[in-house]
Amino acid sequence: MYLIYNNSKMKFACLFFLPLLSFIQLLPAEDKKAPASPTTASPKAKMDLPADISGDELFAKICSNCHGKKGEGSEALKAPSIAGLPAWYVQTQIKKFRADLRGISPEDPAGQIMHNIINAINVDQSEGVAKLIAAMPMHPTQNVLGGDSQKGKEVFMGVCAKCHRFNGKGEIVFGSAPLIGLQDWYIRAQLHKFRKGIRGGNPADEKGHKMHEMTQYLSPEEAADVTAYIAVLAQKHANTKSRRDREFEEMQKRKEQKAQGKNALPKELRQ
Ligand code: HEC
Ligand code: HEC
Repeated sequence: MYLIYNNSKMKFACLFFLPLLSFIQLLPAEDKKAPASPTTASPKAKMDLPADISGDELFAKICSNCHGKKGEGSEALKAPSIAGLPAWYVQTQIKKFRADLRGISPEDPAGQIMHNIINAINVDQSEGVAKLIAAMPMHPTQNVLGGDSQKGKEVFMGVCAKCHRFNGKGEIVFGSAPLIGLQDWYIRAQLHKFRKGIRGGNPADEKGHKMHEMTQYLSPEEAADVTAYIAVLAQKHANTKSRRDREFEEMQKRKEQKAQGKNALPKELRQ
């Protein structure tokens, strides 16, 4: 089942994926119903990718079909813009999709699509692919759907900023995502899902559960307004690096260099 090549047309991706997805979607339910019987249990559908596929190749062959070649996303496919999301966040979310902590609710068809894709991939290249995504320039949030950014500013500063920072860039310490590279339709959809517990409803998803709690008192109007304000922040802060960002990158680089230095030693000398 080696289905997806570098075709440039999104619609093609859709045609390729939809039959595959409906096929895969049926499997977990069947597996649960008849776990022990070898005659009825279906083998898990896997895309047959080469084991040594690189993160770049994986992105080009699989991810870009929905998320776009530049990670810009596609509203028609409900796929968010992921360009510029930090590697730690991408890897965490991939883990959650894999561990059934995200994208399993029947009320979350978009989440299910991503859940099924990640579980159909036979290789784990999340590290390589996450690095590539993190290096892509962000597509700043645009206010397409409307909403009152002035009112949204009050909500953002009062509630959201303490975790997502005043520039909306997120905070690794809290595990909070940057928001200013996401499309407004996606942000609104996630706020709705968090509020209803469709995402983050499971306390085992500790960070997602925080967002579930945070959105309990957020009305749909406030969600629209705060999203409009995120678009204002995006115009100012997307693709600019703060001193903190630079310090963090330096620290990561030093860590990597140190790790490489260690691996260069003969095995017996490594600690
Ligand atoms: C068939 C379409 C499709 C493909 C292929 C696909 N995705 Fe997705 N992805 C989605 C959709 C739809 C969502 C939104 C899920 C939601 O609404 O919760 C998503 C969400 C995500 C998220 C979460 C973003 C966030 O801000 O929390 C990440 C990360 C992601 N995808 C990475 C990838 C990677 C990496 C690949 C390739 C290995 C990939 N996706 C392939 C459709 C796809
Ligand atoms: C207590 C800390 C906290 C507060 C306050 C908070 N968030 Fe979050 N938010 C998080 C964390 C942590 C995540 C990552 C959840 C996960 O791992 O799935 C997140 C995720 C999100 C996402 C999903 C991003 C994506 O890429 O899918 C959106 C949208 C969001 N928050 C918006 C908001 C808004 C708007 C507010 C204010 C009304 C807010 N958050 C307040 C911690 C917080």
